[in-house]
Amino acid sequence: MDINIEQIRADFPILKEIVYGKPLVYLDNAATTHKPQQVIDAVSEVYLKYNSNIHRGVHHLSNVCTEAHENARVKVQQFINAKHTHEVIFTRGTTESINLLAASFGDTFLQPGDEILVSQLEHHSNIVPWQLLEKRKGIVLKYIPINQAGELILDNIDELINNKTKLVAIAHISNALGTVNPIKTIIDLAHSKNIPVMIDGAQAVQHVQVDVQALNCDFYVFSGHKLYAPTGIGVLYGKEEWLNQMEPYHGGGEMIKTVSFEGTTFNELPFKFEAGTPHYSGSVGLGAAIDYVNTIGINTIAQYEQELLSYASQRLASIPNIRFFGTAAEKASVISFLIGSVHPFDIGTMLDKMGIAVRTGHHCAQPLMQYYQIPGTIRASFALYNTKAEIDKLADATERVAQLFG
Ligand code: ALA
Repeated sequence: MDINIEQIRADFPILKEIVYGKPLVYLDNAATTHKPQQVIDAVSEVYLKYNSNIHRGVHHLSNVCTEAHENARVKVQQFINAKHTHEVIFTRGTTESINLLAASFGDTFLQPGDEILVSQLEHHSNIVPWQLLEKRKGIVLKYIPINQAGELILDNIDELINNKTKLVAIAHISNALGTVNPIKTIIDLAHSKNIPVMIDGAQAVQHVQVDVQALNCDFYVFSGHKLYAPTGIGVLYGKEEWLNQMEPYHGGGEMIKTVSFEGTTFNELPFKFEAGTPHYSGSVGLGAAIDYVNTIGINTIAQYEQELLSYASQRLASIPNIRFFGTAAEKASVISFLIGSVHPFDIGTMLDKMGIAVRTGHHCAQPLMQYYQIPGTIRASFALYNTKAEIDKLADATERVAQLFG
């Protein structure tokens, strides 16, 4: 494997932390990833050397800061292969990107009775904004069901995507199960009926190569903090023909062209959707994170994480009474499981005392947990800095905890 794991781990200072006297084993990467020194340095440099409000300044610092922010936009554009830089809108994260889309797309295009199609395994962030729109505009939210393996059932997709459907909004990869959804099939099918598609890439951009032009999706959203970048920065990619037609989301700041009490005209893309002082230290950090990922190579990362996933699946499978949730043929590096009927929180708490950080609970995917009729799962999610030795610790500790609970 073409990955220098010792070097990579040395790049992430937090991995040296000791938790309850044990070396940290961090397996909660689907919730957030740690930041390499290169990202921490890039953010520090903003405040140490050129902090200044951007776009409106005539002075040197403002120009340097504006250039760094806009340069980060180019890095995002290239990372996801968007056609235009102005198709990259900076937001606070995936959740804000979807809320922006629901509000702006909803205000511009949706009428009572129109349908939005999601899936049964979505994160709440791709359910609740549409439910708010159900209340506000009388639209109808529908979902593609899943099977026991946690895969989408596409048998009735022709009925689900019908002439009332105005948008299909689907996760690229499930945060709770790791299922990689057949998004290209869904995009092509929706487009054959002239229906746009939004892909929630919060759990994808850090694991697989994303090319929005090859996918031909209309919108693609993701968060920086799951991609080794700071919190509070994310992206809404949208095709310019959609974004140009859509009403703005928030008002104020750089999103205007002219303002008078008689009325306001709006700025061009991408600024039309970026009200207020932009999170320029976040965008610079995101740019540095993309540089970091590019240095290793996203395909190398994907291959390494697949090795970790298959090793972890094998190691955990020998634990008595383990029940896996999410056994799709195509998976990213997430493993969700329960031990018999022990509450996931009890296991997670004991693993924590052994220095192992996993997530327990519904993972903001309650409809999915309702489908499986469980309160939640224990979720281990891997990143490029995890190792097989850490997976051994997880498996050994889980087995010991399982024995304690009988
Ligand atoms: N969405 C994050 C997760 O899946 C918080 O854990």
